[in-house]
Amino acid sequence: MEYIFSLEFIYLIASVTYILGLKMLGHPETARKGNLIAAAGMTLAIIGTIFLYQGEVASIIYILIGVAILIGTIIGWMVAKKVGMTKMPELVSLFNGMGGASAALIGLIEFHHYIGDQLSILTIIAGMIIGSISFSGSMIAWAKLNGTMNKPIRLPKYNILNNVFLIGILGFGAFMVFSGSESSLFLYLLFFAALAYGILFVLPIGGADMPVVISLLNSFTGLAAAFGGFLYGNMVMLTGGILVGSAGTILTLAMCKAMNRPLSNVIFGAFGEGSAAATGSVGKTGGSVKEASASDVAILMNYSNKVIIVPGYGLAVAQAQHIIHELEQLLESKGIDVKYAIHPVAGRMPGHMNVLLAETNVDYDKLVEMEDVNPEFKSTDVVFVVGANDVVNPAAHNDPSSPIYGMPILDVENAKHIIINKRSMKPGYAGIENELFYNQKTSMLFGDAKKALTELVAELKNM
Ligand code: TAP
Repeated sequence: MEYIFSLEFIYLIASVTYILGLKMLGHPETARKGNLIAAAGMTLAIIGTIFLYQGEVASIIYILIGVAILIGTIIGWMVAKKVGMTKMPELVSLFNGMGGASAALIGLIEFHHYIGDQLSILTIIAGMIIGSISFSGSMIAWAKLNGTMNKPIRLPKYNILNNVFLIGILGFGAFMVFSGSESSLFLYLLFFAALAYGILFVLPIGGADMPVVISLLNSFTGLAAAFGGFLYGNMVMLTGGILVGSAGTILTLAMCKAMNRPLSNVIFGAFGEGSAAATGSVGKTGGSVKEASASDVAILMNYSNKVIIVPGYGLAVAQAQHIIHELEQLLESKGIDVKYAIHPVAGRMPGHMNVLLAETNVDYDKLVEMEDVNPEFKSTDVVFVVGANDVVNPAAHNDPSSPIYGMPILDVENAKHIIINKRSMKPGYAGIENELFYNQKTSMLFGDAKKALTELVAELKNM
């Protein structure tokens, strides 16, 4: 019975909730519950840590902890309630930065308590360096995503400079560990150097690559927290840190794989910028473009048996998820088979389209992953591409000079008719033209997705 009220037991339960929660986050149907379960585990771990701690604690500390939790909860609640779905990567970046800062502060506070214990100092220094990089890097990522910093800043030879700086930090950190230094000056010097490196690391990376960078920084924060857990012998912190670290790493690599770009290209490359990228596949994109009106598209869809919708970033920008769901229901009521084709990197964050469509209660069975949906296009009458561009660009198959060459795409070309809704002929994230727009089977439905879909639904209702 005593064990049940022990901190170890509470930590064990909390650790299990993290693992369970993470597993449930893997499917849209269980994701919400998984998030709540892991949050409940975290709350339990916090309450347990505060009330079951065995040592002496002054009452002012309890008051300070209470006030900090209250302020954090209120701010977190308000921000999370208010934030739009397209702003989610920014919020994740901000929250991640706070985690990194906490890990770094642990290092600053604990350093002098562990002098002489080399393993602990190693843990402290490693956690502080990684946490600081994660904090300042996340702040830059946040500024880039919210548009405050909209251009990558590249110093001459920035890659070499950054690497030399990083080696310097690691060398200095090793010196702190092995020399047994007690110097606060050195400690703060290392702290500020790691902060500066975080800034230099993220500054040159293009704004649109930020989701990958945030995921990478997320894994850094997890690692830094795990070092904290190791230092304190705190199992729940260690488990949580390792889970965040490994999940972040897996997600980073999965995103890179889905874009067919090595991580080094995200970090050191200049994707989607300048003329080199913009010239990709230009040779095949000349010719005329066919335009269609909402009523043309309505007629085409009305006489179809099977329609596949391809949602992309533009759907999120236009906030057209509700009206697209209405279109889907309307077509289904006419006996037409409707599905959504989900590309793994459609939009600007992992699972962006799933989250967006879940908002309007689209049936999860209708969301079909790329590998499963690709063979279906052959038997599809109309594929309706809404605010997507790169994820349907055939240059990925046909043009070895294209920056997206080799990236797996949705093979919409195989459908009988292709309707593309976007506002103009402008390129998407990769900054390259799309030969699909010039395909004989393609018609462009120009306009903002919400407006175009509203007109389309109205036309269909009249048929
Ligand atoms: P994009 O290739 O970025 O194309 C989006 C298109 O939406 C644009 O061409 C734009 O054309 C159109 N659009 C914008 N606002 C619109 C509106 N209000 N109404 C209608 N259309 C609108 O999007 P995608 O196909 O989803 O591809 C995602 C890209 O992001 C990929 O290159 C991917 O590698 C990259 N990326 C994704 C992630 C994740 S994890 N999802 C992370 C990093 C990078 P107009 O301006 O002409 O309207």
